Amino acid sequence: MKDFIKRIAYRKRSQKVAAFYNHWSEKFMTITDTFQGFRTEKIEELHEYTIRAADLRNEDVVLDAGCGVGGPAFYFVRRLNIRIYALSNSAVQTRIIEARKKAEGVENITVVKGDYHRLSSIFQPDFFSKVLFLESLGHSYHPQKALKEAFKVLRTGGALYIRDLYIRKTDAPEVALEVNRLVEKANETFVYNHVTVEKILNLLRIIGFSIQSFGIPNVVPKSIDHEFKKKLGISPPEGIAFAEPFEIKAVKPSV
Ligand SMILES: C[S@@+](CC[C@H](N)C(=O)[O-])C[C@H]1O[C@@H](n2cnc3c(N)ncnc32)[C@H](O)[C@@H]1O
Repeated sequence: MKDFIKRIAYRKRSQKVAAFYNHWSEKFMTITDTFQGFRTEKIEELHEYTIRAADLRNEDVVLDAGCGVGGPAFYFVRRLNIRIYALSNSAVQTRIIEARKKAEGVENITVVKGDYHRLSSIFQPDFFSKVLFLESLGHSYHPQKALKEAFKVLRTGGALYIRDLYIRKTDAPEVALEVNRLVEKANETFVYNHVTVEKILNLLRIIGFSIQSFGIPNVVPKSIDHEFKKKLGISPPEGIAFAEPFEIKAVKPSV
């Protein structure tokens, strides 16, 4: 019974995230086609960085889990001879990507509307050589399930790359209080669920991933939050830095 209620709560949560993006995606696109808060001034630099950090290579079969309107995916398929499955739970986003594919004559992106907590019911086991979560896993209220599902659809030797914003760590109680207050506000605004990076690293280990590396992404960041605030009236809460970026690279080992 408990599990049943939990499942309904998770589904509702995922629907709330989808509704958020159904409402905002076209508005966000008036500013950028890449919905990542941690970014570089020129977005191409971030995409180039992701190619290197996630070790994307020709012939890869890539799952872009939580693909937004496809900003990263369109860049990657132009740069490399790869196939990308662009997955989003937002019907508006999948429609936007389909339209752009058609307009630009792009064939090696397959658009999929679905929930990343249910990957194994959408894709064959051992299907992908790479799985990416680019500021998308942080929407999950059940990251363990999403990561377990990613494990199933990854090939042995395949790699998972996660880049996200995590709750800032501090041992000063007054700073921790303020961090929590701002995290809650940001979670509410963006239908997010910030967690600590340690939580995700632990889950990966429990699931059976072999962690290759993790750390702060090596780029020069440049926020464009002010543009969102000015143009659309939506932005992360101001004040102390409450979240910090981390990237994690993990591999599905052979047993
Ligand atoms: C902050 S945006 C990042 C988008 C994209 N990675 C980019 O760089 O532009 C988060 C994305 O995750 C997707 N998402 C969130 N929860 C999801 C879920 N349960 N299943 C599939 N997609 C999800 C959202 O629809 C949105 O596309």
